[in-house]
Amino acid sequence: MTRIGWYGLGSMGLAMATNLQRHLATKNALNLVYSNRTMARGDPLKSLGATPESDFQKLVAQCGIIFTMVSNDSVLQHLVSSALSSGQSLRDKIFVDCSTVHPETVGLTVAKLKEKQASFLAAPVFGGNPIAVDGKLVFAIAGPQKASQVVKPLIQDVMGRKVIDCGEDATKSSLLKIAGNIVTVNMMEAVGEAQVFAEQTGLGTGPMEELIGEAFGPVAGGYSKRLTTGVYAPPLGSRPGFGVSLAIKDANHAMAMAKDHKVELPGLEVAQENMVAAREYAGECLDSSSMYGVLRQMAGLEFWNEKSRKGGS
Ligand SMILES: NC(=O)c1ccc[n+]([C@@H]2O[C@H](COP(=O)([O-])OP(=O)(O)OC[C@H]3O[C@@H](n4cnc5c(N)ncnc54)[C@H](OP(=O)(O)O)[C@@H]3O)[C@@H](O)[C@H]2O)c1
Repeated sequence: MTRIGWYGLGSMGLAMATNLQRHLATKNALNLVYSNRTMARGDPLKSLGATPESDFQKLVAQCGIIFTMVSNDSVLQHLVSSALSSGQSLRDKIFVDCSTVHPETVGLTVAKLKEKQASFLAAPVFGGNPIAVDGKLVFAIAGPQKASQVVKPLIQDVMGRKVIDCGEDATKSSLLKIAGNIVTVNMMEAVGEAQVFAEQTGLGTGPMEELIGEAFGPVAGGYSKRLTTGVYAPPLGSRPGFGVSLAIKDANHAMAMAKDHKVELPGLEVAQENMVAAREYAGECLDSSSMYGVLRQMAGLEFWNEKSRKGGS
């Protein structure tokens, strides 16, 4: 039986690993081995039977399949370097990264692991924390088919409702994720603009939210709720649903690739500038939808609304 490892228990990783551990328990499979920079985040997983392992190299040594779900490219690169430098054999191990990283990072990682006869699957996800909790994420997966076939049953109807197979070239699923986030970030900007417009014209955010949910779908409706419930600026010290710096990273990746391919992304540039301005004003503890605060300021309102936190950075 292959033991499965998991590194990264943030807003998304904890929810995903929880569903995976529950699945393994129903199959009487070996319990998940988990690790995280902040190990205490794994306490709920431990209570479900998963095993903590604070040393990533030891986790890799015990597991045949290793999932990672971390903030950004440099954290993933650090983990892979750590596995490579451990001196242990990585032969036939499958590394599955679900984070959003640049396709170039994926390409480099594939090459490094291939030298050690290990496989790398890029399996980024679409959907936020509530969807991760429900096990209904959309995954894009790419990499060696043999490895994909092994891993898909751990994803489909466990952590995700749909797996889009992007083929053997692992950079392709990462590219799809970066492209998808052009839509995500633009949609957040559009919903934020519409909600400030609704508030200032006297229409009100309630009818606007009803329309957004009904006419533009649950994803857009969910973005509106992030504004009207104040979670765009959550209490200091809490973990945002989708941290503003993560969305800025995603937009940076898209804009860098667009430049290389002579593509213009003017809408994304506006949203990116507004996210950066929000972070400058209110700090790191912000959701990606916090461009709304800046749009409010442009209209002469306070950055904060009646449901958000009221200051601090
Ligand atoms: N949130 C979303 O809605 C969403 C949706 C789709 C994709 N994504 C992508 O999924 C990935 C994870 O997102 P998330 O929202 O779960 O992020 P998150 O809540 O910020 O969690 C980030 C994870 O990375 C770890 N980490 C951060 N810096 C580290 C470092 N220097 N060394 C070691 N570990 C480090 C964190 O450890 P600690 O627990 O110790 O901080 C945590 O486990 C990101 O690439 C994001 O862009 C997010």
